[in-house]
Amino acid sequence: QKTKKARTDTAEATASAPVNIAVIKYWGKRSEALMLPTNSSLSLTLDQDQLQSKTSVRVIADSESEDARLWLNGKEEKITGRVRNLVATMRKLRADLEAKDSSLPSLANKALHMASINNFPTAAGLASSASGLACLAVAIDAALQLNLPRPQVSALARLGSGSACRSLFGGFVAWDMGSKPDGSDSVARQVASETHWPEMCALILVASATQKEMPSTAGMQTTVETSPLLQHRISAVVPERMQSIEKAIQARDFDSFAEITMRDSNQFHAVCLDTFPPIFYLNHVSHRVISLITKYNEVKSKENGRKYTVAYTFDAGPNAVLYLLKDDVAEVLRLVNAFFPHNVAAGAASDEYYGMAKQFVHAPADKVKAEKDLETEVLKGVKHFEEKGGLKRIIYTTIGDGPRILGTGSNGREVSLFKEDGFPK
Ligand code: DP6
Repeated sequence: QKTKKARTDTAEATASAPVNIAVIKYWGKRSEALMLPTNSSLSLTLDQDQLQSKTSVRVIADSESEDARLWLNGKEEKITGRVRNLVATMRKLRADLEAKDSSLPSLANKALHMASINNFPTAAGLASSASGLACLAVAIDAALQLNLPRPQVSALARLGSGSACRSLFGGFVAWDMGSKPDGSDSVARQVASETHWPEMCALILVASATQKEMPSTAGMQTTVETSPLLQHRISAVVPERMQSIEKAIQARDFDSFAEITMRDSNQFHAVCLDTFPPIFYLNHVSHRVISLITKYNEVKSKENGRKYTVAYTFDAGPNAVLYLLKDDVAEVLRLVNAFFPHNVAAGAASDEYYGMAKQFVHAPADKVKAEKDLETEVLKGVKHFEEKGGLKRIIYTTIGDGPRILGTGSNGREVSLFKEDGFPK
């Protein structure tokens, strides 16, 4: 007979989650409270070995309070209403379990510590809310030992940030807007896994931004209130596009995929311009990238017979995300370098500037001549970007898997962002 109660393991979990970049854009909510969108959207999940959020969540066993505290990149932050809502909703689910089974450790009403970091610098200008909130929902689910199915964790992540619900799955992910008032059918689902189209890659051209952009949440709210074009987009454009792009993905039809992607990015930014007062996310660097890719696609078409070799898309900022097939990455990267000559001239061939893209910087000898000719032809149509420092960095990545649990309890000590005492390392 045991006299002492067995010491329970620390209720803690550490997870990682990927970034996703939409090709059919989510822009507009029909319910702020339930975080329900005005249209469906579709994104590609990027490889988290390149870009990821990592989050540890710890239940403070001996706490008297129900405090929730959050550290982002090592600095304690005030918890927003949305995160508070997410935490409260997940604690309630835990409380329901504990009410049904008294043998379960009591975790629902203890203090909660949450720490999150991104492996990409905020200076990279990439939004981290999708990966960050997806990761938080996964880590809370594991720390509170809820073991919810992924679609349910996705719906919870949505409470933190709409686009986060898509980061719960790898590969190609749709977020169906749903029609029920309670939002129960507004869920993300995997359209195709990360192994479905292995040639698909992304090059992210991080543009130097001089000005802070309007945050998505506020921007889309004003769009919903003022843009008649958004209403047209919602009713007449997106439903058909969602079907077509899903088909293109299933068939690995890059031409169709690329055209829909570029058209949808263009329309999203048109909707921003139709917002009153207007919102500008694209800057002159973005505009020149669009011209470059348009011209490249046209020139390249004569050689490879494909309508498009590269698709561009832009979120709520000036960075270009280029989707393209692996065989074309090297040539496109070097074309971008020829177009932004100052980045290369300024000794920017650094690890920091290129990361994984560095492997493509130098053309093999047998390709130099052909590429030079192509470059000359493309750059006849779009002149070099003469200013210095148009791009801050280039990120090369592929399509990847969904969130990962990196460790739980005492088995997660090494990967945990917390010290033994439950505060960030
Ligand atoms: C342009 O998900 O950041 O990236 O739901 O208010 O948190 P909230 O907005 P957020 O918006 C993302 C907008 C977008 C398009 C997309 O990712 O689909």
